[in-house]
Amino acid sequence: MSQQPFRLSMQALLITVVIVVSLLLLFRPVPSTGQQQSLHDAVELNAVKLVDEGRQTFRFDTFGDEAFWGGTLQLHRAVEGSNLGGVGAGLTPRTALQLGLKVDVDALPNQLVQRIRRGDVDLDSPATTLALLKLNAVVGLTGFFDASGNRLTSIGIQCALCHSTVDNSLLPGIGHRLDGWANRDLNVGAIVLLSPNLQPVATLLGVDIATVSKALSAWGPGKFDAELFLDGKAFNPEQKSHGVVTGNNVSGATMIPNAFGLAGFNQHTWTGAWGTVTYWNAFVANLEMHGIGTFFDPRLDNAAQFPIAPRNRFGHLRTAPDDDRITKKLPALQVFQLAIPVPVPKAGVDFDPVRAARGDELFSSTARCNECHVEPLWTEPGWNLHKPDEIGIDPFEANRAPDHVYKTQNLASIFIRERGLFMFPQDKGRFYHDGRFATLLDVVNHYNIQFKLGLNQQQQLDLVEYLKSLPEAK
Ligand code: HEC
Ligand code: HEC
Repeated sequence: MSQQPFRLSMQALLITVVIVVSLLLLFRPVPSTGQQQSLHDAVELNAVKLVDEGRQTFRFDTFGDEAFWGGTLQLHRAVEGSNLGGVGAGLTPRTALQLGLKVDVDALPNQLVQRIRRGDVDLDSPATTLALLKLNAVVGLTGFFDASGNRLTSIGIQCALCHSTVDNSLLPGIGHRLDGWANRDLNVGAIVLLSPNLQPVATLLGVDIATVSKALSAWGPGKFDAELFLDGKAFNPEQKSHGVVTGNNVSGATMIPNAFGLAGFNQHTWTGAWGTVTYWNAFVANLEMHGIGTFFDPRLDNAAQFPIAPRNRFGHLRTAPDDDRITKKLPALQVFQLAIPVPVPKAGVDFDPVRAARGDELFSSTARCNECHVEPLWTEPGWNLHKPDEIGIDPFEANRAPDHVYKTQNLASIFIRERGLFMFPQDKGRFYHDGRFATLLDVVNHYNIQFKLGLNQQQQLDLVEYLKSLPEAK
């Protein structure tokens, strides 16, 4: 074979390729699928990056708040105990678990897991607690150690402390992390009370230490008072539901809500109008966790409503950009929270599907629930806030917020609390902001009286089964 035909056929091939490619380009779908693909990837890649960053912040970032929890309150010294150089008896793992602290099994070396399983680990020694902190295994708590690695020099807290729990896969309180699940066992008040130096809190609130102790002891498991440092109002003088007084001097602390199921609606927290998820993230990181950052809200200058906030300039916290450890983390933190999946109940296990179907009908008709808990957000698109008398309860907690209103709480995964999944049996249930209703049936009964719905017992139970089926499996 000579070289000539080969060269010719190469030419022909090239020409054919050029023509085919030109035709393809000419008649290509617009815009090119290649362009679309890369755009798609850029968004997805960015989403994944933000979610990863946000998860890291949510789980592990103290925002420098160890300056407060360790530096000011000296909490780490109480954890250590006098035998190890701190003060008091020290925090044993057994007590820590009883206080509702959780241990992340995935942070433990395999050998330790085996030993815990065999009951071969001393749960009554503060040294074990320090070892767990060193492994970064205590959910929402970070221990800071000196160079020798033996002395705890400070301690800081994370979002995960209150807004995560574990699935108890190894032991009660020890298991895989459940990000976003409210820790209903966590006794924040009792943990803060361990601090050897509560004087700064007393000074801030303008009261004595005995008064601080009384307020913190009254919180109990699964609760925290996010407004105490603003208004100093620790107790609700008269808790009232559908015209009936149900308690006097009840703690002003509110139930720790889930940090999932928060996408698609405007106002967050139990009361309003504080703001959205990201407003509250900034609020909490700066004002509650005492991280180092920047926060602006001139509404806190209202001394009549917030006697404590103005004199501390809480609505005007400033940190130089290079030292600010909160602001730059807010975007990813928000994206992560909105992306946390909502646990879906199983028909026949978590709820009775036949009754739930009947409840579904009632929810958006006779029972009028859908007027506020709009399916499938379970709160209103738009302005999801209501005056206390619209839902028939006392205004105490609403009055501690800017607009004196309650937010229509979303009802996603409410079956977890009704069933008491991954929580101490005594901590299950407890609905509404202060946990005043023990069960969902009590909530439905409240509406039945308040709105004169005329639901019979059968219908009320059907509604409860429907509530337990939320969010409906798609
Ligand atoms: C000490 C416990 C505690 C810590 C730590 C904590 N929170 Fe909360 N969080 C609460 C409580 C209690 C509420 C309810 C406050 C209210 O409505 O009065 C809440 C409410 C929220 C809400 C509103 C949820 C809803 O249903 O609307 C979001 C979002 C949230 N927290 C995010 C965070 C983030 C992010 C962090 C870390 C920066 C954090 N929280 C740290 C206890 C805590
Ligand atoms: C007028 C508006 C409105 C209507 C109507 C309404 N709700 Fe609510 N719902 C609210 C608000 C506001 C809250 C939050 C109360 C609080 O902060 O304590 C709430 C809270 C709840 C809770 C407690 C959520 C939690 O996490 O503790 C449940 C359950 C509930 N509602 C179910 C229902 C059912 C069932 C109906 C119908 C019978 C109904 N709601 C009708 C506004 C409404």
